[in-house]
Amino acid sequence: VSELARAAWTSRFAIETEATTRFAELARRLHASGAPADLADLALRASRDELRHAAHCQRFASLHGAAALEPKTHLVEYAPGSLSPSQRLLYEVVAQCCVAETQSTATLVTLLSAAKGTELKAVLQELARDEVQHGRLGWAYLAWIRDRQDLRFLGALLQPMIAGSAGPDMFNPVSPEADSQELLVHGVLPLSTRQQLYVETLETVILPGFAEFEIDTTAARAWLQSRCQQAAHPNA
Ligand SMILES: [Fe+2]
Ligand SMILES: [Fe+2]
Repeated sequence: VSELARAAWTSRFAIETEATTRFAELARRLHASGAPADLADLALRASRDELRHAAHCQRFASLHGAAALEPKTHLVEYAPGSLSPSQRLLYEVVAQCCVAETQSTATLVTLLSAAKGTELKAVLQELARDEVQHGRLGWAYLAWIRDRQDLRFLGALLQPMIAGSAGPDMFNPVSPEADSQELLVHGVLPLSTRQQLYVETLETVILPGFAEFEIDTTAARAWLQSRCQQAAHPNA
C-alpha cells in the first residue's frame, strides 16, 4: 500500500507541476487573446495554486519514502496542430479546466470523505477548493467565447481529449493491491473506484456541460461506453 501511495503522490506531484506551467502559459495567452481580465487572472492564480499543491504532494510522497522530486516544467501542447491559434487556446482551456480539473475535483471530494488524519484532510480540502475554481475557469471561458467563436469543432476532439485525461493506467485490470481500500486512508483511490468515478463524472457533469454549449458529445459517449464494456468483459 505504501508503495502505491508513494507512486500516486509522485504522479500527482508531476501533474501539479505541469499544471503550474500550463496555467501560467494559459494566463499569458488568455491575456494576449483579449479575453476578459478576470479570466486571465483566474489562470494566473491557478498557476500559483498548483505550485502550492505540488509542495503538498512532495510532502506526502516523502512521507511514503520518495526522494526529492524533479518538477515537470516542460510545456506540452495537447491541441492538434491543424487548429487555428484561437481554436488551440480553446482546446487547451477546455482540456485543462473543464476536463482535468473537473475530474480532479470529483476525485478530491470523494477522497475527502474517506481520508483519515487532520493534515491529510486539510490538504485534500485545500486542493478540492482550488480545483473547483480551476474547473470554473473553463466553463466561464466557454460561456464568454460562445458568441465569438464556433465551438462545434470541439465535438470531434472530445474523445481523444477525454481519453488523454484518463492517463495510461486508468483502465488497467483491477488487481487486489491496486484496489485495496486501505489506500483511501492515504489519500489515494482504489482503482475500481477511480474508474467508476471517472466514468460517472464524465457522464453526469462534463459531457452534459459540453452539450449545453451545443458541442456534440456522441463520439465521446460511444467511446466511454465501449471502454466500460471492455472493462466489464476484458476477454470479449
Ligand atoms: Fe492542483
Ligand atoms: Fe488545478
